[in-house]
Amino acid sequence: MTRLIVLANAAAAGETGADLIEAAVAADPALVLGVATGSSPLGIWAALARRRLDVSRVSAFALDEYLGLPPDHPESYRAVVARDIIRPLGLDPARVRTPDAQGDPEAAARDYEAAIVDAGGVDLQVLGIGRNGHIGFNEPGSSLAAPTHVAELSAETRRDNARYFSSLEDMPTRCITQGIGTILRARRLVLIALGEAKAQAVAAAIDGPVTSSLPASALQLHPDATVLVDPAAASCLARHRVAS
Ligand code: F6R
Repeated sequence: MTRLIVLANAAAAGETGADLIEAAVAADPALVLGVATGSSPLGIWAALARRRLDVSRVSAFALDEYLGLPPDHPESYRAVVARDIIRPLGLDPARVRTPDAQGDPEAAARDYEAAIVDAGGVDLQVLGIGRNGHIGFNEPGSSLAAPTHVAELSAETRRDNARYFSSLEDMPTRCITQGIGTILRARRLVLIALGEAKAQAVAAAIDGPVTSSLPASALQLHPDATVLVDPAAASCLARHRVAS
């Protein structure tokens, strides 16, 4: 069942996301956390950093990684995860993994899926959502059952994320992403969506049919998914949803 929580603003959504993770770490200090990069969860990471939790036994897996960037590129998700998540939260870098983008990508995708299984699976997966409804980099048309795999980025996602690169040409075209099958195996999902640009994708994901053309609709198949939104991101949802 998808639980929808509409918060007053982005800061409150970040605090609520941090509450869920703090409670999960309190219940299991060796939690396996799934982390999303991008702007939406930044408030969660900032709120968690302020709480100075003991996360020395927590391990983490990123959702995805670009292919085709040099190893020291500041916008590789390896670098972004270190900057936005590992350092502020005080995670042990040896316990945090991103897909390896420097070797054979197909082998790296298989290894990554195996590493998640070896870790006992992800306990709590944080997700953002693309304007086109992607989760991870599972673009519209992706299999709802796939494991971690090599994927092409859509033109829309490349345009959206080109803001982090000097030009659209510098923005990668391919990635390694946890598949929707991988994401659905996490024990708990917490998706955060902020702003009007996400409103239609959020409404389609929650109120629409489960379909690979809107990958986030797969959340409806998960027994424990929570969606945190601000009022702008909630603005296209059916009214009874927002009220309940
Ligand atoms: C990031 C990821 C993506 C983002 C999504 C939203 O690891 O997998 O699905 O969560 O593109 O990005 P933002 O939050 O920057 O709007």
